[in-house]
Amino acid sequence: MTLLLLSTPERGKIWPRVFAEAGEDILVGEQAVHDPSAIEHIACWYPPKDLSVYTQLKTLISVGAGVDHLPALPEGIALSRTIAPGLEAMMRDWVVMATLMSHRDMPMYIAQARQGVWKAGSVAATGKRTVGILGMGRIGRLAAVSLLALGFRVRGWSLSGATVDDIEMFAADDLDVFLAGVDILVCLLPLTERTRGILGDALFGKLPRGARLVHAGRGGHLDMTALARALDDGQLASAILDVTEPEPLPAEHPFWNDPRIVITPHVAAQTDAREGAMHALAVIRAVREGRPIPGLVARERGY
Ligand SMILES: NC(=O)c1ccc[n+]([C@@H]2O[C@H](COP(=O)([O-])OP(=O)(O)OC[C@H]3O[C@@H](n4cnc5c(N)ncnc54)[C@H](OP(=O)(O)O)[C@@H]3O)[C@@H](O)[C@H]2O)c1
Repeated sequence: MTLLLLSTPERGKIWPRVFAEAGEDILVGEQAVHDPSAIEHIACWYPPKDLSVYTQLKTLISVGAGVDHLPALPEGIALSRTIAPGLEAMMRDWVVMATLMSHRDMPMYIAQARQGVWKAGSVAATGKRTVGILGMGRIGRLAAVSLLALGFRVRGWSLSGATVDDIEMFAADDLDVFLAGVDILVCLLPLTERTRGILGDALFGKLPRGARLVHAGRGGHLDMTALARALDDGQLASAILDVTEPEPLPAEHPFWNDPRIVITPHVAAQTDAREGAMHALAVIRAVREGRPIPGLVARERGY
């Protein structure tokens, strides 16, 4: 049950220690592989160009929470995305921070401060604002709990619309009704064929005028030109973005100096190397024991 790790030097140092403690085999880097048929699992961000040499490969483990960067895999190879509670907590923290910043007009006050302008706007209580979360998966649900605790009204949108305690939920077909009542829109969707470009003119137009956007999904969800238009005509008041397309966002991009936009460089969360290794161990053991694979991606859904 050897695992091949293709990743950063930091993971290359930490994973072998975790695997040694657990009594499991690991190879780091393709140059360490002498017998590809001994490899049953590969953990990576980008997989090797030629997967066909790994004739006994059972699972490919994405070392991140998403799988949208990966090519389609041959039949018979399971795909697992890393489930890491520490990463999910970091995401929750970023979402709470960005939602509070949006709620309290921080993009505007940061821009005013740069100009030395002391000008007070009105302040609303959290209970006066509805936060709508696109994507009520592991991270969306975690963020919702904290936002509810802060007093926001919270509603969620997911493919299934499956019930979530204390949250008004909407299914895929009810997007328009969901959007009509949202003051702060938080995107925590996976990037799939169905969600690419979803943050565009049509969606922005269905939000109440002056709504705010918080985006920590993937750059591919957002039509940046549509966002600029929505900000210019007042449909949106502000946007806080952790992800863009392309990444890195070029230094000359107008968003950097737009007073209505705050950007962080895809740092809402990072996978802790030890946590990532623990996930890989859980996958290996589940496969060995014939149990459900943690973080298994449903091929037909793409997440
Ligand atoms: N910025 C960062 O640093 C960072 C870090 C980690 C993750 N992320 C992003 O966060 C995303 C969410 O992670 P997660 O762990 O919460 O994912 P998850 O547990 O797989 O949840 C995904 C959610 O999105 C919903 N969904 C998927 N496709 C949909 C569609 N077409 N229409 C409506 N809803 C749809 C799902 O609906 P169902 O509940 O019905 O299945 C589910 O509620 C990741 O995919 C990644 O893009 C970003």
